[in-house]
Amino acid sequence: MTTLRLPGLVDAHVHLREPGYEHKEDFYTGTVAALAGGVTTVLDMPNTQPPTATPALLREKARLAAAKAVCDVGLFVGATNDRADAYLPAAQHACGLKIYVSDTFGSLRIDSLDLLHRLFRTWAGKADAVGYRMDGREQGLGPIAVHAEELMLPVCLNLSHLYDVPLHVVHVSRRSEIELIRTAKERGYRVTCEVTPHHLFLTTEDAARLGPLGDMRPRLATPDDQAALWENLDVIDLFATDHAPHTLAEKAALETPPPGVPGLETMLPLLITAMVEGRLTEDDIVARCAHNPRRVYGLPAQPDTWVDVVVEDQPVPWSNERMKTRVGWSPFAGMPLHGRVERVTLRGEVVYEDGRVLAAPGSGRVLFGAANPAA
Ligand code: NCD
Ligand code: ZN
Repeated sequence: MTTLRLPGLVDAHVHLREPGYEHKEDFYTGTVAALAGGVTTVLDMPNTQPPTATPALLREKARLAAAKAVCDVGLFVGATNDRADAYLPAAQHACGLKIYVSDTFGSLRIDSLDLLHRLFRTWAGKADAVGYRMDGREQGLGPIAVHAEELMLPVCLNLSHLYDVPLHVVHVSRRSEIELIRTAKERGYRVTCEVTPHHLFLTTEDAARLGPLGDMRPRLATPDDQAALWENLDVIDLFATDHAPHTLAEKAALETPPPGVPGLETMLPLLITAMVEGRLTEDDIVARCAHNPRRVYGLPAQPDTWVDVVVEDQPVPWSNERMKTRVGWSPFAGMPLHGRVERVTLRGEVVYEDGRVLAAPGSGRVLFGAANPAA
């Protein structure tokens, strides 16, 4: 057994569900789950109810987060068909703009080229005024993050190239997609991408066993798609969980269960397991879970912040019992894993130790001045 000390991790893709779906998660339970997973910064998606589509809604969400969070939180704004780019006046207080062009949970899917074109054009226009500042940015805009599967991926790559807007492609899952992103990077496109642990560690071969607990968007892909993600590790900028909790009752009872699975607590144990198996190095993990997300989104540094993670000699089956997410389940239940988060230190304070959360609600910070936009 050894212990590693890593920088506090960033999970650049979580759904903490507040406001509107607090029975699934809220800013307290979600950030507690983050600490339990060694994550000290989360970036929260806009598909809440109501969606984070206006300056007022961003501010309101930021105040909820400021009161409850135990780790640092950045908030995305989101484009909607009926509110289009209403968020623009507050754009620099968001970590980035999220655009959904593929189908998933929530009502944010953009369904016309007319609107999609406008969203890229206006984000680029705003950046002309305030600039893009990706490296430890205090002001300026973040990238456009897109959920763009299959044929929607080249559409978004092209719009980003036409407007010179940095594009971040979330949860890439297929061979065709990761190979296209490789080509775009080789041609100098301003594109980065992320892959989830569930697409790295599960495939269509697990889908039948898992039923609705293995249903998410993008869906689990084939073993060949999974192999392509590992083959193209150098193209993957970030690992991000797409932590998307739904209750077991919702997953079991509804005729069409909502897609999405929790992931904050299992990411580091899974990655450490891949490290023990020789498929990843410690540097691979630290780059994709700490340094690169900070660079892509221009996140401020967290001084004196680290995670102590135990690397077990013998793998221990993952148990839902220990989980902090409100929904209390994982698609990885029973999977033998080598990593266990022992302690998390945030800005010099021990905030998590051996399953106990020591941080007070509201001790996490809301990034980019979203809670006090006038200040
Ligand atoms: C997410 C959710 O439930 O909010 N679901 C999912 O399957 N990934 C939405 C999303 O990220 O697409
Ligand atoms: Zn998501």
